[in-house]
Amino acid sequence: MERGDAIVTSEHAFVAYKIIARVFGAETIEAPSRDYGCDLDAILDAVTDRTEIIFIANPNNPTGTFLPADTVDRFMARVPPHLIVVFDEAYYEFVDRMPDTLRYVHDGRNVVALRTFSKIHGLASVRVGYGVARPELIEVLQKTREPFNVNGIGQIGALAALADEEHQRKTKELTDKGRAYFEKELAAMNLRFIPSAANFVLVNVGDGLSVFRALLEHKVIVRAMKGYNLPEWVRITVGTMEQNRKCIAALREVMEERAHAPSRAHCGASPQCSRPGKVRDGEGAIASTRGACAPQIHARRSFRITNFNPDQTSSTAHTLISTSPVGSATSRIVSSVMSVLTSEDFFGHETQITPAETILVR
Ligand SMILES: Cc1ncc(COP(=O)(O)O)c(C=O)c1O
Repeated sequence: MERGDAIVTSEHAFVAYKIIARVFGAETIEAPSRDYGCDLDAILDAVTDRTEIIFIANPNNPTGTFLPADTVDRFMARVPPHLIVVFDEAYYEFVDRMPDTLRYVHDGRNVVALRTFSKIHGLASVRVGYGVARPELIEVLQKTREPFNVNGIGQIGALAALADEEHQRKTKELTDKGRAYFEKELAAMNLRFIPSAANFVLVNVGDGLSVFRALLEHKVIVRAMKGYNLPEWVRITVGTMEQNRKCIAALREVMEERAHAPSRAHCGASPQCSRPGKVRDGEGAIASTRGACAPQIHARRSFRITNFNPDQTSSTAHTLISTSPVGSATSRIVSSVMSVLTSEDFFGHETQITPAETILVR
């Protein structure tokens, strides 16, 4: 890919494709989504003679939407054969009937199937994943990849994770149960959500950023989705049932507080905050996303989350909440050899994550 080329992906698709295209000076064309999911007809309509690669996340992050095999087959029958189609299957193990994209690879199509050990295997912090494509495409990747780009710990962890079928089975079971619980509780709270095939649920809470901030006060981290042009939504990752119940209880409290105090809606940074945020006309208790008091409150706050599952050890808070909630021998081994990680998390504070069951957010 080079300057002047273009990639095509869907509106609300996983953001990495757009970022990487920008690094190469390529343009990203986002085809309009249908019901928040990827519309493959719109993707084809968006292809021009500058298009080099089509990126499709299936299931997609953050919407959790899924394209079944017959839809993918119809799409592949229409894709011009010279185009590269990347199927990003990061959540592949959570899905019962995934399309068989490896079949296109065997048929010699220009298809790359991407998988990762970051999700069901819970190994996000060791940075291991893989792609499957025909040899000519892999050769191009070999020429450009960094030398030794997967370290020894990652490789040992990945091999052990593949063999640890019990861990995958338990994680999927727990995720299916947890996702059903979220869907039931969210429906009971009259909150709109997108049915998900992955280990998270996208929920419309009115103002994603202020609900994210308010939930932080309850020591619950969700992800605000403004960056995906979904400012009303948050993405909640399914955890253990105990974590799920805690999350729902906090969300119920936050939503009730916001519904009952429309005139004193605060900036969302703290329940104690008395400064009113801006309330948009006709939206009841939905506060503005940036109250003036938020930075000071955040700067002074310090809290601790204990009983942290070492399987979720990760270099960023984002992957921390995206990884597998069930214990596995593999990730415990990997966690135990990792030193303390320090990173800027997505809400701009230093986060220290240790395998020793403590996260400090300063
Ligand atoms: C759709 C999708 N693809 C890829 C990734 C990145 O996975 P990795 O941790 O292997 O970089 C993510 C992580 O959030 C994702 O949601």
